[in-house]
Amino acid sequence: MSDILTIAGSPSNNSRSSAVLELVRNVLEGHGLSTDALNVRDLDATELFTANFNGESVRAAVAKVHQARAIVIATPIYKAAYSGVLKAFLDLLPQDALADKLIFPIATGGSPAHLLAIDYALKPVLNALGAHHILHGLYIQDAQIQHTNGELTALDVAIEKRLHTSLMKVVGQLMPAQPERISFNSIAHVR
Ligand SMILES: Cc1cc2nc3c(=O)[nH]c(=O)nc-3n(C[C@H](O)[C@H](O)[C@H](O)COP(=O)(O)O)c2cc1C
Repeated sequence: MSDILTIAGSPSNNSRSSAVLELVRNVLEGHGLSTDALNVRDLDATELFTANFNGESVRAAVAKVHQARAIVIATPIYKAAYSGVLKAFLDLLPQDALADKLIFPIATGGSPAHLLAIDYALKPVLNALGAHHILHGLYIQDAQIQHTNGELTALDVAIEKRLHTSLMKVVGQLMPAQPERISFNSIAHVR
């Protein structure tokens, strides 16, 4: 049982969007919230590819979604939308899987061309899964983020501020009595 589940939708093992989620977990844990991580790439590929609702890894992942109060979901932009592996997993969730959960969507993309992909592609799917409380999405361009071995090493200052604002909202929703201050542990900034 966790307060917040992060869902990483990248098939890459050195993923920018997953690195952002690691920062997200660190910040939220620093505020006393419990977190859990789900990497779609770690699920059994055959279970995903054959839409095996009863597969062991799929059932464990669905249980994690069920138990979380809030979900931070991150995807790379692939061909103007979310990744295919993320959709393969979302297809296996029950129809109301995201009802009553706070959702914060994040996407990383190589260019500004698909800035609205969270709104036109991902949000309708989240809505179809029952999500009604979706925070404004955060789109991060590759040039605004630096990472090494899957770890985030620098973040654009404007993106950091927007991430900070959104995470304050998550903390505020889950722990209403918390002060409005979140430390990023002095993450370096992209120049
Ligand atoms: C197959 C593929 C398709 C992509 N399509 C797009 C795209 O349509 N628009 C875009 O802005 N970036 C696109 N990109 C770039 C990725 O979205 C970007 O590098 C992202 O940060 C990768 O995230 P990750 O490291 O978490 O996998 C694509 C990358 C790949 C590998």
